[in-house]
Amino acid sequence: MQPDPRTGETGPNDVVSIERHGPIALVALDNPPVNAASHALRTGLWQAVEQLQDAPEIRAIGLYGKGRTFIAGADIREFGKPPLDPWLPDVCNFLENSAKPIACILHGTTLGGGFEIALSCHARVALKGTKAGFPEVTLGILPGAGGTQRAPRLAGMAAALDMITSGRQISAQDALDHGLVDGLSEDDPREAALQAARDMLDGKLPVRKTGALEVTHDEAALQAMRDKLAKAQPLLYSPHKCVEAVAASSQPITEGLKEERRLYNACMESPQRAGLIHAFFAERAVAKIPEAAARPRNIASIGVIGGGTMGSGIATAALLAGFPVTLSERDQAGLDRGTAAISRNLDGAVKRGKLSPEGREAILASKLATSTDLAALSQADLIIEAVFEEMNVKREIFETLDRIARPGAMLASNTSYLDINEIAAMTGRPEDVIGLHFFSPAHVMRLLEVVVAEKTSAETVATGFALAKALKKTAVRSGVCDGFIGNRIMTFYKKAADYMMMDGAAPEEIDRAMTGFGFAMGPYQVADLAGLDISWAANKRRAATRPAEERYIPIADRLCENGWFGRKSGQGFYVYDETGVRPNPAALEIIGAERGKAGITPRAFTSDEIVSRFMTAMILEATRVLEEGIALRPIDIDAVFLFGYGFPRFRGGPMHTADLIGAGELVRRIEAYAAEDSYYWRVPELLRKMSETGESFAEMNGKR
Ligand code: 3HC
Ligand code: NAI
Repeated sequence: MQPDPRTGETGPNDVVSIERHGPIALVALDNPPVNAASHALRTGLWQAVEQLQDAPEIRAIGLYGKGRTFIAGADIREFGKPPLDPWLPDVCNFLENSAKPIACILHGTTLGGGFEIALSCHARVALKGTKAGFPEVTLGILPGAGGTQRAPRLAGMAAALDMITSGRQISAQDALDHGLVDGLSEDDPREAALQAARDMLDGKLPVRKTGALEVTHDEAALQAMRDKLAKAQPLLYSPHKCVEAVAASSQPITEGLKEERRLYNACMESPQRAGLIHAFFAERAVAKIPEAAARPRNIASIGVIGGGTMGSGIATAALLAGFPVTLSERDQAGLDRGTAAISRNLDGAVKRGKLSPEGREAILASKLATSTDLAALSQADLIIEAVFEEMNVKREIFETLDRIARPGAMLASNTSYLDINEIAAMTGRPEDVIGLHFFSPAHVMRLLEVVVAEKTSAETVATGFALAKALKKTAVRSGVCDGFIGNRIMTFYKKAADYMMMDGAAPEEIDRAMTGFGFAMGPYQVADLAGLDISWAANKRRAATRPAEERYIPIADRLCENGWFGRKSGQGFYVYDETGVRPNPAALEIIGAERGKAGITPRAFTSDEIVSRFMTAMILEATRVLEEGIALRPIDIDAVFLFGYGFPRFRGGPMHTADLIGAGELVRRIEAYAAEDSYYWRVPELLRKMSETGESFAEMNGKR
């Protein structure tokens, strides 16, 4: 390759270049956006260092990344494909064995394979603001390019175990304190690389082969981590393998690296790896929407109507992101309750270290305004309604907003189920109206469903997505239907759970089966937490239009008739008191009585059968949501469940799970269950077609 005429740089390829300064060679990596260690980068880096071995004038090498970060890890897109030479572990060993010492500059997010490359160099300097870490465990693998062997050599087993099993990122200062880097710098990466190489030559930076260092075996730290993980993450595979790999680091490096490779390969083959990587891409894929090219409007101030559970949470989320918020309620008492809830939420943020005590005071003193008069929202750029779930109440609000909101203001409803088209039609500006469906608690939950009505403008949709980003939430685009993507599917699969309860499974058994599958909570734990009164109201609303063929289970309604609304009233399917949580014997009596009335002889359900029916129901309705175009792609549905419904991340989401089960098996199950209830269990057309053509949901992600 010819030298660049402007910079004099040469490079083995487009991604890696060499610049010479007397006895120093700078090797720069340029693989935007995050310098992932792709095949081209690995090849270029290897060739660059190889070339320099033979250059007599070169005595030291400075390695750095151009752009926003040093290498942010292996190229995740290459996972699951046939590996291409040179492999990252070999690159790391090659760097470590370079006869010319290499100083590596860490900047941006130096993660995974990027951190491992840094640890294989002979000296390391981190720039201010660097975050370094091993996120591999979040992808179902372990640092497989020597990280489990070299990190303990520099930082000790206990610190390495903590970083590797948690995926936690540490600051430049922490890295220095742990011995993972040798110095800090405030220069730009290129300058710092030049300086670090000089410092190695001048003896101001230690020049060491990390692999030659010894590790003190720390059995106490290993056992403590094994115990912790057995308790906290019994279902996950790779964290346990991380511990085994670090345990091998007290052996000579060649032996330790062999063990690391064996464990890494085992992780790579585990279905959890595929699920977790799918989840990683789901988080990013959902931003690819038809309206992505539209320019978002500027949101400088937000109005929130309703200071109840959701309104106070939404206001908190907006305040924490730095927006000034005006909260509106029906009366002063409502405002007082709302403000108190916001203040409690901010206290929680202070406790979790997300906000300073002064920050909290500043927010309450100058960012939050309140009013009982909707006119106070007339200048807001975005107004989010979170009042009672009743169309009449929403009508009153939106008709007023149409009169008072400034032209171009975005008008959003946080409704869980109601028709956004109908709400938009209450105004003379339906293009500005959208659903912004937050999840409870709104200042904590990651998911935001952005519900696009028929007349919502592209600009309004793009603004919804920009808002989600500002609030550090994951937005998923949904069309309009009863319950949008998430609640619609949940309403459906909740019935499958109710049918099993009626036919013989105890609520606790169903919850245990689903938490055993990996859900954060089972359906009855969720129902008790959300409040049984909410679904009671929805049941009443739907009663008039409920098809005669639908099997209806009135058990939760019976609990509500006794005033048992779940957690908030002290009992529901479970009893909540000072001694803890336990199944509610009174609920079990009601279940028994209802079975008796319906003439049902209860039968036993195994955990496997519970999971099978529950997941089949979820996938069935999810397929319809896809068929109807409510969700753009299968991966959008996965994202909704991963970020809003506690779906186990390692399983990748319902559609990813569906691909593992296979369309043919799903059709077979639905047809078998249909023998009991042919109305509920109907095979969606799309699923039948998939069972015939062999097409998977994963394949549809690329096409849509
Ligand atoms: N491989 C491939 N693509 C990657 C990538 C990676 N390691 N990291 C990020 N990208 C892509 C993203 O998919 C996204 O692509 P898109 O624009 O087409 O959607 C683009 O880079 C920008 O990423 P983000 O939107 O996430 O940018 P942010 O600035 O918000 O975050 C980041 C940057 C912190 C680096 C974040 O992307 C991240 O956490 N990346 C993953 C890091 C990681 O897990 N590394 C470990 C890999 S495993 C490994 O190294 C194995 C080894 O031990 C053998
Ligand atoms: P909530 O009952 O806790 O709060 C509603 C608040 O709205 C009350 O404080 C009430 O005083 C106030 N309000 C009623 N009419 C008003 C008016 N005309 N002007 C100003 N304020 C008024 O209800 P919640 O749970 O916060 O629900 C609000 C909305 O959010 C509903 O549409 C609900 O479906 C939706 N939602 C609820 C979720 C939940 O988990 N609770 C989750 C996601 C959405």
